Parts: sequence; C-alpha cells; structure tokens
Amino acid sequence: MGKIVSITSDQVADFSLDALYDNAQPPSLDSLTRLLARPAGCAWAILGPHGIEGAVWYLVVKDEAEIIDIRVGKSYRRKGVGESLLTQSFEKLRQSKIRSVFLEVRSTNAAALALYKKLSFVIMGRRENYYKTATGREDALTMRCNW
Ligand SMILES: CC(C)(COP(=O)(O)OP(=O)(O)OC[C@H]1O[C@@H](n2cnc3c(N)ncnc32)[C@H](O)[C@@H]1OP(=O)(O)O)[C@@H](O)C(=O)NCCC(=O)NCCS
Repeated sequence: MGKIVSITSDQVADFSLDALYDNAQPPSLDSLTRLLARPAGCAWAILGPHGIEGAVWYLVVKDEAEIIDIRVGKSYRRKGVGESLLTQSFEKLRQSKIRSVFLEVRSTNAAALALYKKLSFVIMGRRENYYKTATGREDALTMRCNW
C-alpha cells in the first residue's frame, strides 16, 4: 500500500493527477484544484511506487468536513486504496478536531455506497433527481459519519 501525502496548491501540478480525472465526468481536476485556494479546502492522495493511486478532496467548515470527491485510478480499484485513503485522511481530520464527515453520492454508485457503509457512514437523506445521467436524472443520497 502506498503512503498518504497531502496535496497543497503549490504542489498540485507535481502530482500528475490528470490520469485520475476525466473532464467528461465532473468534478474536473481544475475545479478541485481551485478548492485548495480556499482556506477550507484540503486534499490527500495515496502515492505508490508508480505514482498517485487515488485522491480525496474535502471542504472543512468548523468541526465538519465534506467529501467533495474521492477517486481511485481504474487499475488500482478493489485493492483497498479507497478505504485506506479515507481512513488515513479521517485520522488527519480527527487530529484537527473535526468531528464528522458529510458527503453526497449518486444513488446508483454501488461501489462508493459499499465503501461508505463499510466505514460506518449512515444515510441521512435523499435529494430526488439531483444528478444528471446520460438518459435522465438520478437521486443523490446524503451520508454522514460522526466520531
Ligand atoms: C468508490 C471507489 C473510490 C472505491 O475505491 P477502491 O479503492 O476500489 O475501494 P477499496 O478497494 O478500498 O474497497 C473498500 C470497500 O469498498 C467496497 N467496494 C469498493 N468497490 C466496490 C465494488 N466495485 N463493488 C462492491 N463493493 C465495493 C467494499 O466493501 C470494499 O471492501 P472489501 O474489499 O472488504 O469488500 C472507486 O470505485 C472509484 O474511484 N470510483 C469512481 C469515483 C467515484 O465514484 N467516487 C465516489 C464519488 S461519491
């Protein structure tokens, strides 16, 4: 398993994150990079022997963090990278006195839902027809994990 590294706005270009992001599927790397210019933005990546394996981006307000995006490179999926990225970044957030994490996920995103449930997130609500799909719209689920 690779090691966790903090992504700062100064270094974001050095991490070659482009391979993780496809501008056809939001959020774009540009929009995520802009988060880091805000005081509330922070992000971590898992760095393996062949480069970045996955990244997670947060907005932190008071004692709550919101996951804006988490993405693992296609060839690294189902190897524990996403789980490690979340558990290790949660540990960093806990050290900064963050007490809960909130997120929104597409209701059909089975992989992400299984990951969040494994990490004890619970569903708080449903936003109907929130996301666009190729054929119409789908619901968003809001989830929270308190420490
Ligand atoms: C969701 C995502 C981050 C998971 O990353 P990953 O590194 O493949 O996940 P892990 O290998 O750490 O899996 C941890 C747990 O998540 C669940 N899980 C992950 N992928 C799964 C899948 N395809 N099907 C079912 N469960 C899955 C399992 O419970 C797994 O535990 P297990 O291995 O003991 O069964 C990855 O699929 C991804 O990048 N998807 C595209 C981007 C995305 O949808 N992000 C979420 C936005 S809200």
